[in-house]
Amino acid sequence: MKLKKKLIQKMIEIAKEASEKAYSPYSNYKVGASLLTKSGKIFTGCNIENASFGATICAERVAIFKAISEGEKDFDTIAIYINDEKHIPSPCGICRQVMMEFAPNLKLVLSNGYEYEIYKLEELLPYPFSKNFL
Ligand code: THU
Repeated sequence: MKLKKKLIQKMIEIAKEASEKAYSPYSNYKVGASLLTKSGKIFTGCNIENASFGATICAERVAIFKAISEGEKDFDTIAIYINDEKHIPSPCGICRQVMMEFAPNLKLVLSNGYEYEIYKLEELLPYPFSKNFL
């Protein structure tokens, strides 16, 4: 996959900064996302929890919805960051579905602060339900 090292590092750094803004008093799990649009803009997101747990939203969807609400819906890459020695982050199923809606060719950089892995969305969500079915 074509992704320059410098861009990857920058996106991870921005996602890390975003994770510091997480509102996660219930899980204490801080997630940050940085979303690169095809036009070259970067939108950030953090997870925002709620006492009514189902009202919680993940960092990835915050970044995607911020971008869409600003008129941007062509996405190139999303970086997702958690500070975790053991695990590399993995986006939840709802976020994978939301990513698929807008960016079936999205690239994902998953970083835990020690190492990162790069995936294509189609690897993380094979045989997706999509608008083609409707
Ligand atoms: N979370 C995210 O923000 N992104 C993910 O990819 C996985 C889960 C959040 C939701 C909740 O605030 C916390 O992590 C624990 O599930």
